[in-house]
Amino acid sequence: MQDTQPNTTYLKDYRVPDYLVDNTDLHFELEAKVTQVRTRLKIRRNPKAGDGLPPLFLDGVDLQLFSVTLDGIALSSTDYQELPQGLSIPVEKPEFVLEIHNSINPEENTSLEGLYLSNKMYCTQCEAEGFRKITFYPDRPDVMSKFTTTIVASKDHPVLLSNGNEIGRGHCEDGRQFVTWEDPFPKPAYLFALVAGNLEHVEDVFTTARGRKVKLQIFTEAKNIGKCDHAMRSLKNAMRWDEEVYGREYDLDIFMVVAVDHFNMGAMENKGLNIFNSACVLASPETATDSAFQRIESIVGHEYFHNWSGNRVTCRDWFQLSLKEGFTVFRDAEFSADLNSRAVKRIEDVTLLRTNQFAEDAGPMAHPIRPDSYMEISNFYTLTVYEKGAEVVRMIHTLLGADGFRKGSDLYFERHDGCAVTCEDFVRAMEDANQVDLTQFRRWYSQAGTPVLDVTDQFDESTGVYRLIVRQSCPVTPEQKDKLPFHIPFAMGLLDSTGSGIALDKAGSTQLVLEITESEQVFEFNGLRERPLPSLLRGFSAPVKVRYDYSLEQLLFLMSHDSDTFNRWDASQRFAFKAMNQLQSAYQEGLSLELSPELIVAYRNILLNKELDPALVAEIMLLPSEHSIAEESVSIDAEAIVAARTFARKSLSCALIDELKERYAELDIERPYSPNAKDIAERRLKNICLEYLCVTESADALDLAQCQFDSAGNMTDSAAALSALINYGNDQYAEQAIHQFYDRWKEDTQVTELWLAQQACSAKRGTLNNIKALMQHPAFELKNPNKVRAVIGGFANRNFQQFHKNDGSGFEFVADQVIALDKLNPQVASRVVIPITRWKKYSGELAGKMKAALLRVSNSGELSKDVYEVVSKSLV
Ligand code: ARG
Ligand code: ZN
Repeated sequence: MQDTQPNTTYLKDYRVPDYLVDNTDLHFELEAKVTQVRTRLKIRRNPKAGDGLPPLFLDGVDLQLFSVTLDGIALSSTDYQELPQGLSIPVEKPEFVLEIHNSINPEENTSLEGLYLSNKMYCTQCEAEGFRKITFYPDRPDVMSKFTTTIVASKDHPVLLSNGNEIGRGHCEDGRQFVTWEDPFPKPAYLFALVAGNLEHVEDVFTTARGRKVKLQIFTEAKNIGKCDHAMRSLKNAMRWDEEVYGREYDLDIFMVVAVDHFNMGAMENKGLNIFNSACVLASPETATDSAFQRIESIVGHEYFHNWSGNRVTCRDWFQLSLKEGFTVFRDAEFSADLNSRAVKRIEDVTLLRTNQFAEDAGPMAHPIRPDSYMEISNFYTLTVYEKGAEVVRMIHTLLGADGFRKGSDLYFERHDGCAVTCEDFVRAMEDANQVDLTQFRRWYSQAGTPVLDVTDQFDESTGVYRLIVRQSCPVTPEQKDKLPFHIPFAMGLLDSTGSGIALDKAGSTQLVLEITESEQVFEFNGLRERPLPSLLRGFSAPVKVRYDYSLEQLLFLMSHDSDTFNRWDASQRFAFKAMNQLQSAYQEGLSLELSPELIVAYRNILLNKELDPALVAEIMLLPSEHSIAEESVSIDAEAIVAARTFARKSLSCALIDELKERYAELDIERPYSPNAKDIAERRLKNICLEYLCVTESADALDLAQCQFDSAGNMTDSAAALSALINYGNDQYAEQAIHQFYDRWKEDTQVTELWLAQQACSAKRGTLNNIKALMQHPAFELKNPNKVRAVIGGFANRNFQQFHKNDGSGFEFVADQVIALDKLNPQVASRVVIPITRWKKYSGELAGKMKAALLRVSNSGELSKDVYEVVSKSLV
């Protein structure tokens, strides 16, 4: 906790480390309340740091120090300085061995950073700056060292794991046991990991392209051992994929994954020992939904891919976080696209970006993918660094083509293997391998905010010349007023009146990637016989907003004719946004609401179109969420948004009731569960039909839901039925389903989380009183981030209606939770506060009420650095 205002760290202040650590030997004696840590560091002066011998500084937080020894000689406490943030030790030699003995308290560590206990298992989370909560160390990613780790523990913890290869094990005289691990690859401390527990594991073997055998193990509590198959399959797919697409082979003889119930994020790529949030690794058809299966595949891939993009080549400093995260998210997205439906994956990713990352880029914490400064780096594990970062890498891929990009990534890995580097090094490798100049492109790394492209066009019938006029601009963001033009790859095509693509160059291509580099640019196309219809930003080729004044007819035409699947969906979104805006305005003016009849006709055609991929039909049927409508609003009128969307869904479901029934029945086929793209798509469309049917609240529809609830053979169908009953059933039926479901699954942590989330997200059941009651339920635990995300996060981020209650009670509730959580887990508190930080975007009284709640957090006494940074920046 902070007693003074926290310091800001600046990128421009980066200096190379004064000292390097060649070897790190760690020795742990695990005890819940007092764990002993003995560290032996082989240290030398960094030749790149200049002359002289400055004092050695070691980071250390919440540590009990017992002794420091330098080259075998014990130092007295006057020989060094113990500061709040670490140790400063005067040094007389350029090379020496430092030994430190300290202790820590894993049981009391509720921050889930450093070494902590989850249920009865010891585990670690060191990224970004958690290693300093284990022992005194130069805790920065540009200090890379070879680690050996010995773990001593009682018999209650038979499985003792760390990075690399096991090189020894045995019994101590007192009955405890020990295991020693050695990691041959030098690594920064943030990639260190330790696990100890009573765990079981599943095992498999992967043979690499060059024929090396790698042992694969997934560890979990005994009760979850049946939930590891999907992760194991995903891991093997990821290993193969990285060989085929990037030429990257795994480099140790063993790769371990551990599932942990208490975890701040999704998972962590520690060398050879990935640690996962249980929710991101454990699955079985009975207990996990399709989206859980897909999430697991992509996160297992993501962490595995980090072995090259993150571990073999790591970050010089935390400002470079997107170097590994943006690149790795791009890699995992392509992995998922290759294994499943490419178009659906893209639609899902773009939806996340547009609703949540765009909101971040327009809010008080907006930052470039490579930030210039931070108070607490944990606050910068954001959608901007991850998802927008991935879009920036994707743009390089688009500009260079797949082969050029591969040449660039080969050069990057070869040039920087074993090093801690920068985003600049990544871009330079791409340039050097392709002889291109990405000078202007680099602005994507330094400028925040979502660029806007205003597009207009002209057609001259007499000459057959068609012009696209593109103007780019970028809104002001905190500390960045004036923006320079971005280099934007703009994929586009032109459709003729039959819906065919028009040839745009001599080679006959019907799609071009235009390169936008100026604030205003005109692109000319010759020899056209009629005015074409432009299809713009195909595949979402850049993270920007495109404004072009499409008519409803034009959007309908694109929805049925565009050769780009993504843009067919995008046209449906534009169409739906228009309809919803009309409804919103009508509501605000007190007029009666009417859903545009064209929209109903279009949706009927889509729903009945059996040629279309059901996955695409499903994505179109889902109207834009309240949050994405809010993101598009200049000033958010929450009540009008809820009214408009609720009305649109009701009107659609009433108008399409027969078609919905028909498709539901046709898709409701029994078959053994498999999480393949086709089955997932069909289940998804079926369950969207069910939901729409239930929107009418007719007895028929609810019977269907009840029947599906009673007979479902997998969690996807079961959860969808539960959701329908919760949201649309009468209280008695809803109540009954909620109880039945809980009774059936109360022993299963992952299903219980889903059960909590469904209630918290429900506009009907997730009232503030019910949320408070849920928090008293035995299934809830404030110290478990997954439970907090399910209930408090579900309410604040996914229950638009109840959270935005006009009396401001939703905001006050969130403020209370932030204040309570900050004492336990600052990283989680600092995420929970986000929904009440964007008060400036609200219209009417909600803005003031939200600000008041935020001010209350600000004045609640000592805040962590994490929460202080977010709150103070949001009140500016
Ligand atoms: N590197 C991890 C991943 O993206 C994220 C870990 C971040 N953890 C944290 N507490 N900030 O795969
Ligand atoms: Zn990552």
